[in-house]
Amino acid sequence: MMNLRLGFLASGGGSNLQAIIDACKNGRLKAECCVVISNNSKSKALKRGKSAGIPTAHLSTKTHSTNEQLDLAITEKLEEHKVNLVILAGYMKLLGPSTVAKFRNRILNIHPALLPRFSGKGFYGKNIHKSVLSSNEKFTGVTIHLVDEQYDHGPIIAQKRIAIMKEDTLESLEQRVLSHEHELYVNTLRQIASGEIDLGSIAL
Ligand code: GRF
Repeated sequence: MMNLRLGFLASGGGSNLQAIIDACKNGRLKAECCVVISNNSKSKALKRGKSAGIPTAHLSTKTHSTNEQLDLAITEKLEEHKVNLVILAGYMKLLGPSTVAKFRNRILNIHPALLPRFSGKGFYGKNIHKSVLSSNEKFTGVTIHLVDEQYDHGPIIAQKRIAIMKEDTLESLEQRVLSHEHELYVNTLRQIASGEIDLGSIAL
């Protein structure tokens, strides 16, 4: 059993964040949502955090002049709120070395494809689904993985395969994948909370 204290980093819409907040509120997930950090002061994610009564922080290269200072500020903010599991939910920046080291094996990211495919430079947002559609794949999916110093890297914790339909458009595929993301993120966190998934035994 792990008493989860979640700290979120999000840049955009925050629908994954919302799914996790909702699961905590309705008791499906036993965890505390401790802080929402965003590099984008106008992000919907920050608004969602505020309306849920969760402490929020805008930390970016606007609030901190160097990447090193920003990295330290993020580490400190997470520590201030006694976070023990960091949830990247549509965070568009690379986490700095201080945060990665301080929370090694304790940072999760979600990726809207079946890693290691469709990842790396340029593979974010709609670009991912566009490439998947034009590759004539039969399946796409969702991946949750531990975060290390590289984008979309680190051991895979959970994956869900999703069939691509003939009539899928960029929008329909994006929406379907996103709703699976919400489910997989909540379910994976439930498994971590219950001890079914032991992050401590997974070495980076
Ligand atoms: C999701 O597709 C996630 O996989 C990717 O960024 C998107 C974030 O969506 N990393 P949201 O902000 O949670 O709505």
